[in-house]
Amino acid sequence: MDIKDLCESIKKYEGKEVTLEGWVRNNRNQSNFGFIDFNDGTYFKSFQIVYDKDLKDFDMVSKIRVGSALRVCGKIVKSEGSNQSHEMKATSVEVLGDSSEDYPIQPKRHTREFLREVAYLRPRTNLFNAVFRVRSVAAQAIHEYFQSHNYVYFHSPIITGADCEGSDQMFKITTFDFNDLPKDEKGKVDFKKDLFGKKAYITGSGQLHGETFAMCYKKIYTFGPTMRTEKSNTKTHANEFWMIEPEVAFCDIEGIMDIEEEMLKFIINYVMEKCPLEMEFFDKFVEKGLIEKLNKVKNSKFVRITHHDAIKLLKEAKVKWEFEPDYNEDIAKEHERYITEYYDGPVFIKDWPKDIKAFYMKLNDDNKTVAGVDLEVPGAGELIGGSQREDDYDKLIKRMKEMNIPQDDLVWYTNLRRFGGCYHSGFGLGFERLIMYLTGVDNIRDVIPYPRTPNSCDY
Ligand code: 4AD
Ligand code: MG
Repeated sequence: MDIKDLCESIKKYEGKEVTLEGWVRNNRNQSNFGFIDFNDGTYFKSFQIVYDKDLKDFDMVSKIRVGSALRVCGKIVKSEGSNQSHEMKATSVEVLGDSSEDYPIQPKRHTREFLREVAYLRPRTNLFNAVFRVRSVAAQAIHEYFQSHNYVYFHSPIITGADCEGSDQMFKITTFDFNDLPKDEKGKVDFKKDLFGKKAYITGSGQLHGETFAMCYKKIYTFGPTMRTEKSNTKTHANEFWMIEPEVAFCDIEGIMDIEEEMLKFIINYVMEKCPLEMEFFDKFVEKGLIEKLNKVKNSKFVRITHHDAIKLLKEAKVKWEFEPDYNEDIAKEHERYITEYYDGPVFIKDWPKDIKAFYMKLNDDNKTVAGVDLEVPGAGELIGGSQREDDYDKLIKRMKEMNIPQDDLVWYTNLRRFGGCYHSGFGLGFERLIMYLTGVDNIRDVIPYPRTPNSCDY
């Protein structure tokens, strides 16, 4: 049976014989008895197996190495130890898979850097086991939130010809042999001869396709892998990450902020309810005060300020900046940190200078700013980027021309403004940054199973 089911109804199993299959986290013994910390992955805590000389294989069992896979049968009894209420008194132990002397995950503290090197084994440690369960539960929370609010889950294509966040950010794909590239008359690579008859990319955002479905389902969301080529060696950037991109018709920028706030509170609540042991662990060993922080977020109203006011706040701060805050520029990491610490919680920054934001954002009446909004949180920085979309056909085309966005590939997108277009908004939530925020783990490489970052594509 699963250790989770056993532990959650432990009283029911008192005095009963059960069989468990799982792995040895630790095996401590003396001459007459021993304890195995047994973990089958269904439950955060290991279950204690006790064995003594009555067991006919006592000598063999006392030599079982950490990491081994076992089947154990025994009776569930009250424990005399103080770390657990119950334990199993083993009546038989069968080794299903032995482990070696050089097994890297020994019962001691390992650094996260070392564990990254053995990424295929790291979910066997408490920290990573907790992180990746929270990741799974948070994914479910996201589906629950959107499905229960009438959204359609939309699968945006992974291979695309459309350019959303800048084609320089996108991986190109080809079937060509790099040593024998077909050329056109001008000597340029002839993509007409490639599989799709044109240049193709791996998606850097599902938003543009998402908008097509929002224009008939009213509310949609995507949830899938996203790839970007940026060479950012930071704790919050990866070249492969997961993104959730809701798109909502008949919704303006204030409305989309309401949705972001409600969604985030729902996810926090859901994860805290479903993963109490994991959250307790993070609170104790990863980020002290994490639970209090999240509880406060659940009950707070998020601050909403304009980019202009954010810069003003930064300029007035008595801080020596590495990057001087500027009314026409983006907000740097150090600025994000200051703002979230200043307000002590998540902060929406809206109405950004148009020249530092994407072509699809709605131009405000001042003709200088766009109705874009980023949600900044302590630790993970920019957690969400979103906007109201430009729904005026002429203004959109004008902006695309100004920004050199090729229109031919996006006729279907601009046409949405001609065929029953309406005001609408959406956002992108970086899933890894969400997990960082929920767990307190401060490096994106430690919240995605197999991180892909510049110069690193192991496993
Ligand atoms: O701000 P971004 O680039 O916005 C978009 O892609 C829009 N199309 C979203 C939309 O409106 N539908 O990315 C959205 C979020 C960021 O706020 C961040 O959380 C995450 O995606 N993100 C990354 N996460 C990890 N590594 C990277 N390299 C990331 N780039 C963006
Ligand atoms: Mg952004």
